[in-house]
Amino acid sequence: MTTPGAERKLILMDVDTGVDDALAIMLAHRAPNAQVVAIGTVTGNVSSAQAATNTLKTLDALGADTPVAVGAARAIAREPLPPGNVHGADGLGDANLPAPGHAPTGEHAVDQLLRLVHERPGELSLFASGPLTNLGLALQRDPELPRLVKEVMVMGGAIIAAGNVTPTAEFNIYCDPEAADLVFAADWPVTLVALDVTMRALLRSEQLATLRASERPLARFTMRILPPYLALYSQRFGSEAVTMHDPLAMGLLLDPSLALERARLDTRVETAGELTTGMTVADRRPLIGPGYDQPTHPLDIPLEVDAPRFIAMLMDALLS
Ligand code: BDR
Ligand code: CA
Repeated sequence: MTTPGAERKLILMDVDTGVDDALAIMLAHRAPNAQVVAIGTVTGNVSSAQAATNTLKTLDALGADTPVAVGAARAIAREPLPPGNVHGADGLGDANLPAPGHAPTGEHAVDQLLRLVHERPGELSLFASGPLTNLGLALQRDPELPRLVKEVMVMGGAIIAAGNVTPTAEFNIYCDPEAADLVFAADWPVTLVALDVTMRALLRSEQLATLRASERPLARFTMRILPPYLALYSQRFGSEAVTMHDPLAMGLLLDPSLALERARLDTRVETAGELTTGMTVADRRPLIGPGYDQPTHPLDIPLEVDAPRFIAMLMDALLS
């Protein structure tokens, strides 16, 4: 229940849907304290066009008609990566889902983003769970953008944790490091939800059994799209478990108190490394002595989260 008079967060999502992006979309649409204003797509897990199809299929499961705009097909300054298979070949578990009932709006996701922030200055929370290409392009086009946005929530990077696509780089940042560096350097409040915390946000056998047994539409949709993604992570963990990267970032946007420990760290993205391209380089040096100044442009980085409470929140949404 929404508390009467409580403010609803207005969220503009930017996604590369992806199984866990789909779960973040479901969580956001079921949140009593939020309204998803629109969704843009970007190439990452799949092409931006396929990500739009996957987003629209997810919205069908929700019975929602949130506008979806296709965005950047390729990174700002790089060739696309070879297609991966983490989320199934179609990005949504190869589940033979019916074709979506709606089409994308026809507007480009960058145009949609810029139009909406100008229509609602200072009101929108940006949520990005894919490569940051659309946000980077929007910053290049409109220097006013940072002051028009309330906050930016990004799933990406690895602070102390290892990378997941190279030893040092996380997938979303690695796909478009130039865009990520633009987003981190811009003068707006960014929260970075990195692998350090997302790798601890797991659906395990207990929750999966509950979802399997449920007839609720979002539980059924989840268990249709999940198998390849679940198999991959279960193999990695050695037991049935799957990581909720993008939903955790959405959970933290909806309820910042899920973060039990946060750091404010100057953070840049390596764009020229031979071994470290796409690495999120956070300045974790202790603040002592000359030359060790206070952070000048820190990102807000959750380092510890209440994973059980987040998983309960996600399960409530999927069983609603
Ligand atoms: C990120 O990579 C993608 O595969 C997921 O959707 C998530 O956004 C995790 O590194
Ligand atoms: Ca994603």
